[in-house]
Amino acid sequence: CFVKSKYQKIKGTFDILPPDTLLWKEVENILHNISQQFSYEEIRTPSVESIHLFQQNVGYETDVSKEMFTWKDQSKQQIALKPEMTAPVVRAYIENGFFRSNPLCRLYYIDSFFRREKPQKGRQRQFNQFGIEAFGSASIEQDVEVILMASTCLKALSISETILHINNIGSPDTRTRYEQLLTKYFLQNTKALSNLSQKRLHSNPIRILDSKEKEDQLIIKNAPIIKELLTSTEKTDFNILLSNLDALNIKYEESPHLVRGLDYYNGTTFEITTKSDKSQNALCGGGRYDFLVEQMGGPSTPAIGFAAGMERMIIESNHEMQKNNVDVYISCNELKNSTKCFSIMQHLVENDYKVFFDTNKKSVKNQMKDAIKRNASFVLVIDKNMTIKNIKSNEKIAVSDFQQLLNFLRTQ
Ligand code: HAM
Repeated sequence: CFVKSKYQKIKGTFDILPPDTLLWKEVENILHNISQQFSYEEIRTPSVESIHLFQQNVGYETDVSKEMFTWKDQSKQQIALKPEMTAPVVRAYIENGFFRSNPLCRLYYIDSFFRREKPQKGRQRQFNQFGIEAFGSASIEQDVEVILMASTCLKALSISETILHINNIGSPDTRTRYEQLLTKYFLQNTKALSNLSQKRLHSNPIRILDSKEKEDQLIIKNAPIIKELLTSTEKTDFNILLSNLDALNIKYEESPHLVRGLDYYNGTTFEITTKSDKSQNALCGGGRYDFLVEQMGGPSTPAIGFAAGMERMIIESNHEMQKNNVDVYISCNELKNSTKCFSIMQHLVENDYKVFFDTNKKSVKNQMKDAIKRNASFVLVIDKNMTIKNIKSNEKIAVSDFQQLLNFLRTQ
């Protein structure tokens, strides 16, 4: 029968329910393992931060800053639920003096983030990201390692139909010169631009390149590209990066207009998308942010990282989940025997068996049916005596103590 819950979840949020939670756990384990294999260490930061951390560092005019969940708390402090992790990780890196203790500092995270965007398929108001941030190396080798890690993660999750879009947006100086060049170009085409892009022309012209509006596409296609403004060192570095990707057999597409929607980037920027043309097809995005640590009050420290949407990766993943079968189903329908049941249960769990105990006290016949439904390997019937049965082979013996039970289980 249809029961309407008295309470509903907040718009744009989702429950992750069993058995999907098992899939999530496996995916998270894969990502934890890969991070540790690459010698990255896990960082966890609070869900709330000062609103200024994001406005001043992700950028006032970026969607991420504009779409935050914010409030003024009792002490009139302006608080935000974190919309992304780079700024909080940089804050923690500086606040905890990691630049002193760990000059080449490599961190990773799996966490929930909040953006008050219009919900649609693949876009939630609370979502999860896996991400990494590497501090202290300006070498192009660090860029190669970060992209290799992103590619390794997607491969490990059996996500194959992807495209790596890559660009180099140069130094902040190059970016300023590029911004001027773009403004000039877009001003010549103002009338043909969408309303949103016309507004951005004055606030943040580079963001027009991110526009998904149909009328902007042709104008964007013919817009000047930043590559022409790069210094020879930046061009050489970019070529070294690409040749390493070739050697690693990581396929990429040069995307001269890929600038990303957050203000802190310079140098290498990249995004990995699915091949489908659905609107929320970005699985992962990142790049260099060599000036952010200093901007936030730390010493000048080069850095690079990326973050990948967990929900989007899980949808695209062909990872096969392990079966969550019960080892021993404990069948007992008399309360007077339950102490014995719990003692056996305690020993089984201590010996790494997965158990199921029916506290509803169904009939033995129904418990047997339930055991089959739960794919249990064995049923242990406990009454005056104890009988263990292998469900597949039907082999069945009486056991008098836990050691005998264990011997039976181990020989099966
Ligand atoms: P971002 O591009 O804003 O970058 O987000 C990274 C990924 O998070 C996206 O590619 C997407 O998969 C996922 N994502 C973002 N917003 C949503 C949403 N509303 N619903 C579902 N998934 C979403 C950053 O956050 C940067 N901090 C990445 C970075 C790390 N750059 C350097 N280090």
